[in-house]
Amino acid sequence: MFSFDPYSPAVDADPFPFYKTLREQHPAFWSKEANMWVLSRYADIVTALNDWQTFSSAKGNLMTELPNRAGNTLGTTDPPRHDRLRGLIQHAFMRRNLEGLADPIREIARQTAAPLADQDQFDFITDFSSKFTVKVLWAALGLPSGDEAIAREKAVMMVQSDPVTRAKGPEHLAAYNWMQEYAASVIAERRKNPQNDLISHFSTAEIDGDRLDEREVLLTTTTLIMAGVESLGGFMAMFAYNMADHPEARRQCVANPALLADAIEESLRFNTSAQRFRRCLQKDLELHGQTMKAGDFVCLAYGSGNRDERQFPNADVYDITRKPKGHLGFGGGVHACLGTVIARLSVKTAMEEFHKVVPDYRRVADQLPWMPSSTFRSPMRLDLAKVH
Ligand code: HEM
Repeated sequence: MFSFDPYSPAVDADPFPFYKTLREQHPAFWSKEANMWVLSRYADIVTALNDWQTFSSAKGNLMTELPNRAGNTLGTTDPPRHDRLRGLIQHAFMRRNLEGLADPIREIARQTAAPLADQDQFDFITDFSSKFTVKVLWAALGLPSGDEAIAREKAVMMVQSDPVTRAKGPEHLAAYNWMQEYAASVIAERRKNPQNDLISHFSTAEIDGDRLDEREVLLTTTTLIMAGVESLGGFMAMFAYNMADHPEARRQCVANPALLADAIEESLRFNTSAQRFRRCLQKDLELHGQTMKAGDFVCLAYGSGNRDERQFPNADVYDITRKPKGHLGFGGGVHACLGTVIARLSVKTAMEEFHKVVPDYRRVADQLPWMPSSTFRSPMRLDLAKVH
């Protein structure tokens, strides 16, 4: 009998055969392990994303939610509260002028890639992507330098869940508490001494006299660190994994770096890091012969919608010329990712500089250690060897 357990190591390692069965045979599937419905077809996911009144985020959007987040952050509120938060935070993003970060991002990428010139084999995550990601985020958010490594470790821990209990374990909750205390101390410091950075801007952002309250500033900062470190770092690892496994596409990108932009969009479709998010039903719904009840949780399997043949012909083929319009790599609807500009700019710049130092490479291990997370999918380690 078919089952789909988003907490299982088998799904972490390769969710795509499960998704295919879900789409073809069980388009509205009750996962008893996750205790929620799973929607896997592109059209159903898009319909849900465009109907926040029925598919609410206010009970949390992570598959395994962290305490106090539901109802208090951008990703975990519905309009009109969500519109208000998004407006205030977007205002802060505009004031920081992220395009102005292009030169610093290039410099960070160059400096982080340089030491790889002397190494024949390295872990892409430890030796490149995590160092690069935290430096970029720290510059954008305005976090003090010196604590990047520990904060990254805590952010990665926060998004994991225990595959046995299918819940957050003490180590995940302790990491979350650490992050909140860390964020609180940075916010206090930025209020005393504001700079041109996101935390300074959104802790003081004001529209028509409206401001974020203390809890909103704290949880927004915590969420941005988590979203930035895990979503961006995880996606960069997935992108390098694709480049390693598709040498022809990589050669084209090395010869013509402008193609990286298309390759990034195709990776966001083909095997993005942000695989599944959840919503809570606000009314009963009949779908594909199933009765879903108000109050039930629903998993929107973006990673599956992105492989739906009805939307993307030859969906299982990684094709950097595809230009996959409407992919779900950044979600959609009112909760579409707010970090797309900085994410696209960062990955493209990082890979351009990486390819200047390491143009030809292969994956060392066949099997990768996948992160145990019901929401995200990315390897914990990605050893690459240069090809001479
Ligand atoms: C390639 C990297 C990234 C990917 C793949 C990604 C993916 C996503 C996805 C799928 C969502 C939708 C969640 C949902 O449907 O509930 C989302 C939301 C969000 N992302 Fe990203 N993200 C990335 C980078 C970033 C960065 C760098 C930031 C901030 C610095 C960021 C900030 C956010 C925020 C604040 C939301 C919530 C938006 C809302 O609910 O209105 N993301 N992201």
